[in-house]
Amino acid sequence: MTVKNVEVIGLGYIGLPTAVALAGAGLKVKGVDTNPTHVDAVNAGKVPFLEPGLDEALRAVHERGMISASTTPSEAEAYIISVPTPFKSNHEADLSYVLAAADEISPYVAKGALVILESTSPPGTTELMAERIEKNRPDLAGSLLFAHAPERVLPGRIMVEIFDNDRIVGGLTSEASEAARDLYATFCKGQIRMTNAKTAEMSKLAENSFRDVNIAYANELAKICEKLGIDVWELIELANLHPRVNILRPGPGVGGHCIAVDPWFIVDAAPELANLIRTAREVNDSRPDDVMAEVRTILSSLGWKEGDPVTLAALGLAFKPDVDDLRASPAITVAKKLAELPGASVLVVEPNVDELPSGLAGLPNVLLVSLEEALSGAAAVVGLVAHKQFKALDRNSIKVPVLDTCGIWR
Ligand SMILES: NC(=O)c1ccc[n+]([C@@H]2O[C@H](COP(=O)([O-])OP(=O)(O)OC[C@H]3O[C@@H](n4cnc5c(N)ncnc54)[C@H](O)[C@@H]3O)[C@@H](O)[C@H]2O)c1
Repeated sequence: MTVKNVEVIGLGYIGLPTAVALAGAGLKVKGVDTNPTHVDAVNAGKVPFLEPGLDEALRAVHERGMISASTTPSEAEAYIISVPTPFKSNHEADLSYVLAAADEISPYVAKGALVILESTSPPGTTELMAERIEKNRPDLAGSLLFAHAPERVLPGRIMVEIFDNDRIVGGLTSEASEAARDLYATFCKGQIRMTNAKTAEMSKLAENSFRDVNIAYANELAKICEKLGIDVWELIELANLHPRVNILRPGPGVGGHCIAVDPWFIVDAAPELANLIRTAREVNDSRPDDVMAEVRTILSSLGWKEGDPVTLAALGLAFKPDVDDLRASPAITVAKKLAELPGASVLVVEPNVDELPSGLAGLPNVLLVSLEEALSGAAAVVGLVAHKQFKALDRNSIKVPVLDTCGIWR
């Protein structure tokens, strides 16, 4: 199947780079987003968030008239749905965005169209999406092609990895798998492996759970080392000298849209079997409380008692280094907990954003400041994200106690 025009539903961190990659490969692309700010930005050739290399790539396809955006879909040969898939308070996947996108495109879908779900989803979601569209359009039942194509790019390197990574496509039929493979092959230089939709869905969840479990191991070691008075960074460096050991880096938790979310979809799909995966989530989610216990120890060593005024510097809010993505960031959780300490004022440094996110914005005792201001005003420094601006700083130049939760200076 040779597709010449595609609509990408959801112009976020994943949808927009995908749209730009397809447009760069010569397809006519329309992006659709319910958020008019994203639509206006794309129509002006501008990227509404930070992702290295995306600006230039978008400008190039925009100037050639290969990409446009709208808040409403229209008829296309293929649709790629790339909307959020968060979880609900009970950790069950919230598929409302996927189903809303399916409803949105339904009136426009034509006979033989290919509909790809790119959002990370629990096993069975592609089938659910297909049922929804076919229910909306009984006239087309049996003619549409449905597939899942999970995305495994690393934020900060999306414009490299979207082209170079191997990828998996899984159709509800082999014809759908082949059509999805052909579409991604227009820009993807990696291998494109075909499977069924459920395996493709589970593969993405398994990859992210693998990361989560391994980070949880590092975080549990950090907890144990803290109790035993061992430097966890030295320990990990030494253990990793073993030729078959590669312990990951501990931190203040795991955040972002993927690793902190996707393992719950496996837990939800097989609650009685996913014990290790659930425990890893719990270990990683408990890290901000561990960090706070260490902060309290430092403050006690300074003679601080609850209610005494104290200024703390929190370095970083993003969920990982050198991005502006603050979603589900454990650094924000820690910053909030710091602000809740009676008597505390918090000087937050996040070089990648211009304003504090909700939850911190408006708190009278929290300010977003420059690194210099934070370091000159704080009684203790809590390093939460290993941004390059912090790594460039000589740790020895900081004359107050430092809690480096994520190995900024290691
Ligand atoms: N960000 C990542 O690193 C990453 C990596 C791999 C997979 N994923 C997955 O990709 C999917 C998208 O993630 P993202 O990071 O791009 O999210 P995002 O929040 O950056 O973008 C999603 C976009 O979809 C739009 N949207 C929501 N509902 C819509 C609707 N009904 N119609 C049209 N637009 C709608 C939102 O306004 C938003 O702009 C998620 O399932 C995520 O888990 C993300």
